[in-house]
Amino acid sequence: MTMKLLILAGDGIGPEVMAEVVKVIEWHKRQGLDFVVSHDLVGGAAYDAHGTPLTDATMERAQGVDAVLLGAVGGPKYDNLDFSVKPERGLLRLRKEMDLYANLRPAQCFDALADHSSLKRDLVAGLDIMIVRELTSGVYFGEPRGVSREGNERVGINTHRYTESEIARVARSAFELARKRSNRVCSMEKRNVMEAGILWHDVVEEVHKAEYADVELSHMLADAGAMQIVRAPKQFDVIVTDNLFGDLLSDCAAMLTGSLGMLPSASLGAPMENGRPKALYEPVHGSAPDIAGQGKANPIACILSFAMALRYSFDLGAEADRLEAAVEDVLAEGLRTPDLGQDEDTRSVGTQEMGDAILKALDARAA
Ligand code: NAD
Ligand code: IPM
Ligand code: MN
Repeated sequence: MTMKLLILAGDGIGPEVMAEVVKVIEWHKRQGLDFVVSHDLVGGAAYDAHGTPLTDATMERAQGVDAVLLGAVGGPKYDNLDFSVKPERGLLRLRKEMDLYANLRPAQCFDALADHSSLKRDLVAGLDIMIVRELTSGVYFGEPRGVSREGNERVGINTHRYTESEIARVARSAFELARKRSNRVCSMEKRNVMEAGILWHDVVEEVHKAEYADVELSHMLADAGAMQIVRAPKQFDVIVTDNLFGDLLSDCAAMLTGSLGMLPSASLGAPMENGRPKALYEPVHGSAPDIAGQGKANPIACILSFAMALRYSFDLGAEADRLEAAVEDVLAEGLRTPDLGQDEDTRSVGTQEMGDAILKALDARAA
């Protein structure tokens, strides 16, 4: 069956890391997989061309493919734009209109990088946690919002809002994933200070009791959870949390793996007519303006996001495993982009060289 991909490379290092993913897709096409790839603009790149970070036409194309692959959006050039046309709004529109409510952010520590984490090797070696971040609601989208005047001063307003069904559906995603992993879910909110946190806790409990009693469920206040992720990350299997806490906790978990340049993500919605979920895959990192244009960005987060596409959109688990193993091979060989550090046993490489090495490792594994 044809697999339609829309690539939105975006800004900064987005196009640089996505170019390596394109090579990986081409490699899989040579293996006989029927990918049909198209490209379009998002973020600052779309703003420059069309005056909006996502055109209606691009939105429509995104709705019509099997999976969207996104690089990164944003950058200092766009910092002073009106809020409504900021690059990030393009990405948020995609997430909202495709209703991609479950954002899967795995943090896995490859053995070769265990000494490069900001934590001690013992704490991170073998780490494999999955953060499930709610992605289409909460304070990112709640109304009322905006900046207005109250008397003599300005007031900034955002609303943290969750409905019962929004909480229940992402909780189900987390429980389903846990069943295929170590069968444990930890839910994080701040029910000590937020009514929406109380509802979050209670709905997760109710879904658990009614449908997933076989899964081990625990709860943590999100601030304590952040501390525990850094203190003893291997205690976790699946973490389910809201949009904002999930954003923070996943960047935090990224450093356990050695670099933000390592973390992939899948944003999934309801099944489409063909049975595949609505899906967008993107690295957790941003456009990294500080290193953009220098050919030294780490393409691994973006490449591993494509591995997630193989697994979650196309049911190609063996191919996903092979791609992840190829990444592990090149790290074990000692290849490192600058974000992954250096020691006497490693060799510093740029973005393209890292991509080429992964293709070679794929060749070796396919032979
Ligand atoms: P960032 O993730 O772009 O960068 C944070 C740090 O990590 C930087 O020092 C950067 O060089 C480094 N880094 C990130 N990815 C890397 C990679 N692949 N290889 C090597 N080093 C890497 O976060 P930021 O600097 O806070 O944000 C920059 C812009 O990106 C902002 O406009 C922000 O809104 C946007 N952003 C976009 C996304 C997205 O598109 N999904 C995510 C986060 C931030
Ligand atoms: C992420 C980013 C985005 C977010 C921004 C760029 C909208 O930080 O994907 O983690 O806050 O969700
Ligand atoms: Mn983020």
